Amino acid sequence: MNKTGKKLKLGAVLDGLGWNHMAWQHPAMPSDASENLNFYIKQAQLAESAKFDTLFLVDVSHVGPGNIPHYLSMFEGVSIMSALSMVTKNIGLSATIASSYGDPYSAARQILSLDKISKGRASLNAITSNPGGMVNFSRGRLTKRDQYPMNKEFIEIVLGLWDTYEDDAFIRDKERGIFLNHHKMHHVNYSGNYFSVEGPLNISRSVQGRPVLYTAGTSENFMEIATSYTDGVFTHGYDWEDTAALAHRIRQKLVAKQRRPEDFIISISQNPIVGETEKDAIDKYMELMQLSPRNSLPRPQFFGSAEKVADQVQKWYKAGAMDMLLIRQDHPYGLCDFIDLVVPILQNRGIFRTEYEADTLRGNLEIPNPPFRKIN
Ligand SMILES: Cc1cc2nc3c(=O)[nH]c(=O)nc-3n(C[C@H](O)[C@H](O)[C@H](O)COP(=O)(O)O)c2cc1C
Repeated sequence: MNKTGKKLKLGAVLDGLGWNHMAWQHPAMPSDASENLNFYIKQAQLAESAKFDTLFLVDVSHVGPGNIPHYLSMFEGVSIMSALSMVTKNIGLSATIASSYGDPYSAARQILSLDKISKGRASLNAITSNPGGMVNFSRGRLTKRDQYPMNKEFIEIVLGLWDTYEDDAFIRDKERGIFLNHHKMHHVNYSGNYFSVEGPLNISRSVQGRPVLYTAGTSENFMEIATSYTDGVFTHGYDWEDTAALAHRIRQKLVAKQRRPEDFIISISQNPIVGETEKDAIDKYMELMQLSPRNSLPRPQFFGSAEKVADQVQKWYKAGAMDMLLIRQDHPYGLCDFIDLVVPILQNRGIFRTEYEADTLRGNLEIPNPPFRKIN
């Protein structure tokens, strides 16, 4: 167990070709992976077969000079997660929507719909993203300074809308002709500098209370919002000590706000290259290196034989640097190798589950369903 007393959580970042310049040229990688439904289904079912907690989709809604191939042709997050919900049963489904680009009413509705479709497995990663992308969303007049005030309003509205209805608001009694108890429907009546939303949202409350909410970043502004509103974060540090220190600061801030760190998920991502032996891992790394521009490719932090990578995962987890490890892949077999070679070791060591504990995402993440909260 780590500092929060919970088992390690695992997620798979489904990002098609990956966040790199070269993997699309590998013979084993479909060159259209980022918009190839069959590829996503295969990866999602692989992650679920290994009892991963969640699929996690990072996102980009703007393109600029020097973008990696993956930025240029990729699925929109909620759409692909909805498709994947139909071919999976237990695994969580997380889509990223930038508050700098999106509309909070639409985002609340989309993610709660995904939650209903998947029977309580949805989550939203509500990030600020790159200010350069705002020109694509009729917000070209706004600047970086607007991003966190907007993010705060966006999140407050989304959370409010997800509590439009009390859990037992819908009666749907055919004989008495009563569909809804109107006293259990609430409006957010939110008026902000960036967003104004009256409500109500037109979808009933989630079986997990509310979909899980994350945000991503590293700054003080990010931490302030995360520790006030979200169920977890996606963040990173330079190495395990730096990341553990960052995670420690987040947990301290949670405690200062009377929140329980055990009910909060600190996630980081890694792109492990793992082999049965160190030599296998080096061979895979060299395959990618030869495809890389100028034959230069940083070595992943989690690298080497299965035992060695399992030791690295265990070290980061025990040090409190992460509650959830999100696996990205650069090598076409990156996720598969981690699952085949490292997950069984983590299971043998009792760090990671062998069966799902619950049907909902909150259940598997071991974070409680939030009670209904009346805003107005
Ligand atoms: C771990 C991590 C993941 C992120 N994921 C995304 C993403 O999927 N899409 C995106 O546009 N920006 C992403 N970002 C960028 C953030 O939204 C934000 O623009 C950036 O972190 C700058 O904010 P900060 O200085 O407050 O951390 C990510 C940032 C971090 C640290």
